[in-house]
Amino acid sequence: EAAFPLVELVLTLFFFVGLGPTRKMPPSSSAMDFFQLFVPDNVLKNMVVQTNMYAKKYQERFGSDGAWAEVTLTEMKAFLGYMISTSIYHCESVLSIWSSGFYSNKSIALVMSQSRFEKILKYFHVVAFRSSQTTHGLYKIQPFLDSLQYGFDSAFRPSQTQVLHEPLIDEDPVFIATCTERELRKRKKRKFSLWVRQCSSTGFISQIYVHLKEGGGADGLDTLKNKPQLHSMVAKSLCRNAAGKNYIIFTGPSITSLPLFEEFEKQEIYCCGLLSSRKSDCTGLPLSMLNNSDVPQARGQYRIKMKGNMSLICWYNKGPFRFLTNAYSPVQQGVIIKRKSGEIPCPLAVEAFAAHLSYICKYDDKYSKYFISHKPNKTWQQVFWFAISIAINNAYIVYKMSEAYHVKRYSRAQFGERLIKELLGLEDASPSH
Ligand SMILES: *[C@@H]1O[C@H](CO)[C@@H](O)[C@H](O)[C@H]1NC(C)=O
Ligand SMILES: *[C@@H]1O[C@H](CO)[C@@H](O)[C@H](O)[C@H]1NC(C)=O
Ligand SMILES: *[C@@H]1O[C@H](CO)[C@@H](O)[C@H](O)[C@H]1NC(C)=O
Ligand SMILES: *[C@@H]1O[C@H](CO)[C@@H](O)[C@H](O)[C@H]1NC(C)=O
Repeated sequence: EAAFPLVELVLTLFFFVGLGPTRKMPPSSSAMDFFQLFVPDNVLKNMVVQTNMYAKKYQERFGSDGAWAEVTLTEMKAFLGYMISTSIYHCESVLSIWSSGFYSNKSIALVMSQSRFEKILKYFHVVAFRSSQTTHGLYKIQPFLDSLQYGFDSAFRPSQTQVLHEPLIDEDPVFIATCTERELRKRKKRKFSLWVRQCSSTGFISQIYVHLKEGGGADGLDTLKNKPQLHSMVAKSLCRNAAGKNYIIFTGPSITSLPLFEEFEKQEIYCCGLLSSRKSDCTGLPLSMLNNSDVPQARGQYRIKMKGNMSLICWYNKGPFRFLTNAYSPVQQGVIIKRKSGEIPCPLAVEAFAAHLSYICKYDDKYSKYFISHKPNKTWQQVFWFAISIAINNAYIVYKMSEAYHVKRYSRAQFGERLIKELLGLEDASPSH
C-alpha cells in the first residue's frame, strides 16, 4: 500500500512525542487483543469463579436450581459478547437476539440458548461476597474498576490537553419518546454519577470516577451537599495520577474554581475553565468581573484581571462568557470568528476551550461510540456495563492508532462485530493465539 511509509511515519511520531499506545501491538492483533488490554483473561476468570460462588451460595439459601451448571470461561466470554452486541445494534433488551423480531440474530443466538444466558445473567457477579473490611457501596465491582484503571494507565499516554466531564449516559431519544412517564422517572433516578478525564485529541478516557449519590461512599463525598465542593473533589480524584506532567485540563463551570486551579498549579497541572457566577465556586475572584457591572458590550471585546499566572477573562459574544485559566496568556490572540456582522476577535484561551470541548461533545454522541444498552436494575451492574462500554471505546482508539488498523481498517461497527464474534467463539481471535 502506497500510504504505508506515511503511516509508519505517523506511528513513529506518536511514539516520539509520547502520545498514544505505550506498546506496539503486532499488525495481526485482533479486536479481542485490544479489548483484553483492559479486560484480560485473569479478570474474566475471576468473574467465572465469583459467579459460580454466588450461584452456590444463592442455592444454599434459596433452594437448589436444577437447571444450573457451573459457568465456564468460554461461556463468560459469550455472555459478554451478547451484552456488547447491544452497543452495536442499539436494541433495548439483549434478549431480543433470541426473539423473532427486528433485532433477532440467528447466527449469534445459536451459540448459547436464551435460558442459559438468563441463568448466567441471574447469578453474574464480579465480587460474590462482602468482605469484613469493605465499607463502600461499590465493593461488588471495585477490584474490576481498579484493574480497568490499571489497564488505562499502562496502555496509553494521553495528549497534553484533557477534559474533565460527565459523559452522557442518556437514553436514545427515540426510546425516551416512547417511554411512559413513570418508567422515565424511574430511570432518571440513577444512583450514581460517572466522571472521566478524557484526552481531547484522541477521545481516550484515561481515568474514571464513580460517585454513588446516596450512602456508602468510602470517600465521604455523599456528605458534601454543596455541588462545587463535590465536583472539586471529583476533579482532584480524576487528576491524582496527573501531577508533574504539564497537562492542560479543561473544565466546565461546576468544577472551575480559583482554589482548585491554584492547588493544581502546585502539581504542574494547568487549567482552563468556563466560569459561571451561578454554578461555580467563585471564592477569591473579583466581584466586579462576576456581576454584570463591568462587562464589555460589543462582540469580541474582553476584560482581563490577572493574579500571578492566573487570569480571569470576560469575553463578550451575544453575552458575557467568563474563563479562568493559567494555561494560556490572556493577551494572546486566537482565531478571529468571521460573521456577517463583522469580525469577532477571540482570545487564545477561549478558542482552545471551545476547540477541546467541542471535540468531546462531538465524540460524546451515542451513535459514534459503543454504549451497552442493557439496563439492569442494580447500580453496581449499571456501573459495570458502563465501564465495559468505556473499555471497548478505548480499545477501538488504541486499535486505530496501531499498525493492525492499517492492515484491516475496521470501522467502529466492524470492530465491534469482530469483537462480538471473537467473544462468542465464532471467529478465531488472533493467529498468534
Ligand atoms: C458589582 O460589583 C462592584 C464591585 O464590587 C460594585 O461596586 C457594584 O455595585 C456591583 N454591581 C451590582 C449590579 O451588583
Ligand atoms: C507561573 O508559572 C511558572 C511556570 O509556568 C512558574 O514557574 C511560576 O512560579 C508561576 N508563577 C506564579 C506566580 O504562580
Ligand atoms: C428490574 O426489575 C423489574 C421489577 O422489579 C423486573 O421486572 C425486571 O425484569 C428487572 N430487570 C432486570 C434487567 O433485571
Ligand atoms: C449478527 O451479529 C453478528 C455479530 O455482531 C454480525 O456480524 C451479523 O451481521 C449479525 N447478523 C444479522 C442478521 O444482524
